[in-house]
Amino acid sequence: MIDLRKLAEPGSIEETLVEKIDLTRLPRHVAVIMDGNGRWAKSRNLPRVEGHRAGINSVREIVETGARLELGVMTLYAFSVENWKRPRYEVATLMMLLKEYLRKELATLMENNIRFKPIGRIEGLDPSVQRELRYAQEQTAKNSGLLFQIALNYGGRAEIVDTVNRIMSLLREKEMSDAVIDEAFFGDHLYTANVDDPDLLIRTSGELRVSNFLLWQIAYAEIHVTKVLWPDFRKQHLFEAIIDFQSRERRYGGVEPGDSEMFVEQDETADSRQQTADRGRSNK
Ligand code: FPP
Repeated sequence: MIDLRKLAEPGSIEETLVEKIDLTRLPRHVAVIMDGNGRWAKSRNLPRVEGHRAGINSVREIVETGARLELGVMTLYAFSVENWKRPRYEVATLMMLLKEYLRKELATLMENNIRFKPIGRIEGLDPSVQRELRYAQEQTAKNSGLLFQIALNYGGRAEIVDTVNRIMSLLREKEMSDAVIDEAFFGDHLYTANVDDPDLLIRTSGELRVSNFLLWQIAYAEIHVTKVLWPDFRKQHLFEAIIDFQSRERRYGGVEPGDSEMFVEQDETADSRQQTADRGRSNK
């Protein structure tokens, strides 16, 4: 049962926003491209890494709010396969902040019944980072609330390539090299196997790009872009994104139920296309 008192102070702007949310139609999976840390720091004449440090406060508040809203899944894009191109000091600081976050926030994750899972090419990260990630994942494995996925050394294309290779080796092992695979089977071998696809993708700092994030999984996601820079992103902005999401008409390539009366019968191809869309949205 969602406890509204834990979501907003009486009389606050957050309370006004929460009242506008239909709690029966929440997104099940919210994915976030956290952007604008560097610009946030620059506007304050601070080094870029201070933007990342400040961004952790947003991570804490948004994940905790997601848990209190009883969302199913939140996936945060923390480090892409392309981010290795950043200055060595910035990469090292990001990894240090990640380890610090995991150590300090484990108690909060436990208190909020949050299950933590890293996704991406985790084996490419420093062993000390891998150890902290494994520890947090193991400690929270039995929690039954929000699944908090953090994308690290992640790329959408890399994930698709890794999935193809995983499937090929599986089929070779089973001597089924001529098998024909379908979308559901492919989805079951992604890093996000058994997790609903995001229905809401939030991007901060105003950029209109998907930046190689969850390319397969966002096929039907509603996209909410805000100019707010990630270190300034607070629960108020998450509520605004959800309100925006709920104002959208979601058709998955179909038509409005009322409009379908214009057609005598749905052809088989449209039916099977709808089934594919339904599979992407349902629990696998
Ligand atoms: C993009 O801002 C942000 C990142 C590349 C990293 C996100 C990391 C954090 C919020 C902190 C670490 C996270 C955890 C979970 C510990 P940018 O640097 O590209 O900003 P810019 O576009 O303004 O330069």
